[in-house]
Amino acid sequence: MEKQREQWGSRMGFVFAAAGSAIGLGNIWRFPTVAGRNGGGAFVLLYLLIIMAIGIPVMISELSVGRKGQKSIVGSFLSIKNSPLWFLVGMMGVMSGFLILSFYSVIAGWGVSYIFNFLTGTFAAGVTPDEAATVFEGLVSNPVTPIFWHLIFMGLTGFIVFKGIAGGIEKYSKLLMPALFVLLVILAIRAITLPGAMEGVVWFLRPDISEISIQTVLASLGQVFFSLSLGMGAILTYGSYLSKKEDIPGNALIISLADLSIAILAGFIIMPAVFAFGLEPSVGPSLIFITLPSVFGSMYMGNVFGFLFFVLLSIAALTSSISLLEVVVAYFIDEKKWDRKKAVVVIGAVIFLLGIPVSLSQGGITIANIDFLDVFDTITSKLFLPLGGLMTVIFVGWVWGGQNVLAHIRQEGVKFKLGSAWLFLVKFILPLVLAYILISGFLG
Ligand code: PHE
Repeated sequence: MEKQREQWGSRMGFVFAAAGSAIGLGNIWRFPTVAGRNGGGAFVLLYLLIIMAIGIPVMISELSVGRKGQKSIVGSFLSIKNSPLWFLVGMMGVMSGFLILSFYSVIAGWGVSYIFNFLTGTFAAGVTPDEAATVFEGLVSNPVTPIFWHLIFMGLTGFIVFKGIAGGIEKYSKLLMPALFVLLVILAIRAITLPGAMEGVVWFLRPDISEISIQTVLASLGQVFFSLSLGMGAILTYGSYLSKKEDIPGNALIISLADLSIAILAGFIIMPAVFAFGLEPSVGPSLIFITLPSVFGSMYMGNVFGFLFFVLLSIAALTSSISLLEVVVAYFIDEKKWDRKKAVVVIGAVIFLLGIPVSLSQGGITIANIDFLDVFDTITSKLFLPLGGLMTVIFVGWVWGGQNVLAHIRQEGVKFKLGSAWLFLVKFILPLVLAYILISGFLG
């Protein structure tokens, strides 16, 4: 006999878990980094538009497919339409899970190691960006230390996923997410009041339309998918543990707005600091690991705040990494009939190994000069996730069928007033827009 599929314990629990998946390094590390490389305000403006017009509708689509299919990403597509194409689309999501988590965990590992840096006083009061850069480079160029922290982080991720949905993912998300929010607000207030911070705020908020190119659009689109955990089955898989009574559009709105506010808040912490210390916003992945210690160094009780910040960064990363691992684990449980324990151990080990070249390449040890972090991040965010999103809207609008989806969403009396507008977007507009951005982004 089939075992009953696990479900979330409560609506709140689901919202925290899904918001936990969305809010992570994508908001605190990747958003400022990518905004910094893509011209600041113009990028932020595009990001806002894309969340509203594309992110939320795609999230509604993914949650619906998952809840209807009641399986992993592959199984859910196939249970609605069994064909090789949809198998491949599902597998692209599983692949993305491996690739994203392998670099995600390395960066989260850096965050965890910073907790100890603040505890042990590595960053003294008044630490300059140059000194902080030396500490960061010392960490990443060490061939062993960052891999050790990556291992610890994968261990924590595996532990929670092993505990299952209600007793693992939900329980820890409910505990960890509220704390994260409070700390971010405190830190944003501190950063904005730094001398010279206004320049950063302005740079972050004032769009310079001439900065917008198809590349900026593709970068923003990739960031929206990455940040909302879309296009690879994380939200879909979480939807598969959702009960029929739940209001999918309402929940999608809450989760997306929570994610957006945290991204903006993180920008308000990091950008003012970057300008206050005269740094370049476009340096890339090391941005927060070099700027933030300097911000904390200039604060009263900075070490305490620094410690707390990196605890919370690690927490935010953890509530996301569990959703990445869950995509792959759910696939092996549902389609290959593995038990949860075997799936967590085997897949966790593979992802750990995949993270080793990622980590080494950050310290300059590479094969053929490949920066694996950049390569894995770029293929997933700029190709696999938007392509997964494109295929999902085609699936929902044309394969499963718009009216069937609407009936699914509206069962048990759930209201979806904007249902027809959503359906029009998903069926006609989004496939064209997504295909256009993807194609011209790659050709241009
Ligand atoms: N959304 C997460 C973040 O912003 C990362 C993530 C991407 C999680 C894709 C799941 C799926 O950090």
